[in-house]
Amino acid sequence: MWIFSRYKDYAPLWTDVASLKQANRVHAFRIVTVLLLIFISLWYNGYAIAKLAKKWPTPLDNYQHLNPNPLLNHDFYQSLKPPALSETAVLTSMYTDSYATAIATLGHSLDRVNSTATRLLFYLPEHISAEALCIATATGFVPHPVSRISPPRNGDGTNKRFLDAYSKLNLWTLGDAGYTAVVHLDADTLVLRNFDELFTLPYRFGAVPDVYVGTHGFALEFNTGVIYARPDTVVFRDMMEKMQTLSYDGLQADQAFLNQYYAAAAVRLPYAYNANLAIKKRQPAMWEDLWKRARIVHYTLVKPFLAEADNSGETIVPMEGLEANIHARMGEFDGAFKQELLEWLGQWKETYAKYGDKLRECERKADDI
Ligand SMILES: *[C@@H]1O[C@H](CO)[C@@H](O)[C@H](O)[C@H]1NC(C)=O
Repeated sequence: MWIFSRYKDYAPLWTDVASLKQANRVHAFRIVTVLLLIFISLWYNGYAIAKLAKKWPTPLDNYQHLNPNPLLNHDFYQSLKPPALSETAVLTSMYTDSYATAIATLGHSLDRVNSTATRLLFYLPEHISAEALCIATATGFVPHPVSRISPPRNGDGTNKRFLDAYSKLNLWTLGDAGYTAVVHLDADTLVLRNFDELFTLPYRFGAVPDVYVGTHGFALEFNTGVIYARPDTVVFRDMMEKMQTLSYDGLQADQAFLNQYYAAAAVRLPYAYNANLAIKKRQPAMWEDLWKRARIVHYTLVKPFLAEADNSGETIVPMEGLEANIHARMGEFDGAFKQELLEWLGQWKETYAKYGDKLRECERKADDI
């Protein structure tokens, strides 16, 4: 123990060697304790880092082509009594004119898969021109004016792009109009396959978990681009009341609110009902399988009908300019979404071939005013 003592070379001035030795021992003990603690801390850090590095990715990030089975059990689905057509609705919402052609295309995509539910278009009369409404409703959506639902706290803390988006919650008032099951599709979605099975769900609310390209990855929160819900005015009133006082991060507007409201009660639907382009960027193998089954594709990262790379939708892309717009945006995200953008373009071309007269009439009427 003497070797640790800085006094080891000193000659003692007094002869109480025993107490001097004792003092040196205490000192050495302290040094050994500190060294030991440093060692334990280094060891634990090394252990924790190794453990983190070895942590398995989520089954979605670790996606493998394993499950070839269709999503639905066909026999069971066929045994269900289909809901009355008049009680089901596919709903979309328009807050700005720049989404009109998207909604026309969405309507045609519903035709292609023999969707039979009533099509409703929520719009804010004070924000939407007659021309845009004419275009958006050319392929079967019935205009349904709604009053704007203001974000709580006067929009403080809400993303500027989503200030009107709470109006979507008017969905829950549709129970009064006799609808028992509603699917809300955001205007930036396109239908690839029939999804009537959603109307037979016994639950009150369902949506697909959200996906981010960055660190948030495959999220627990759902994305409200596709919502299945059983409308109920009692629920609507409850929402309106609680929205004012609820504590939540309201940046993502209605989506944040619904995530907080339904929290543990939402049915998380399969990704096929909201095939978000972000999945392709994050996990291409998963997208490959998803594309073969997707009912609804959600153009989140690149919106083919909008001009701006940030999808602000501030300028309107005219019908004649859509094809050029899509080709101009094809290179975004390293050209990752070429196939999906061409799918949208193909469906837009079909829409225009089938409804061109009606669509051109919308433009003509606008010119006459
Ligand atoms: C839609 O209905 C038509 C006529 O019944 C049928 O020929 C076609 O295959 C159906 N399309 C889909 C996608 O189910």
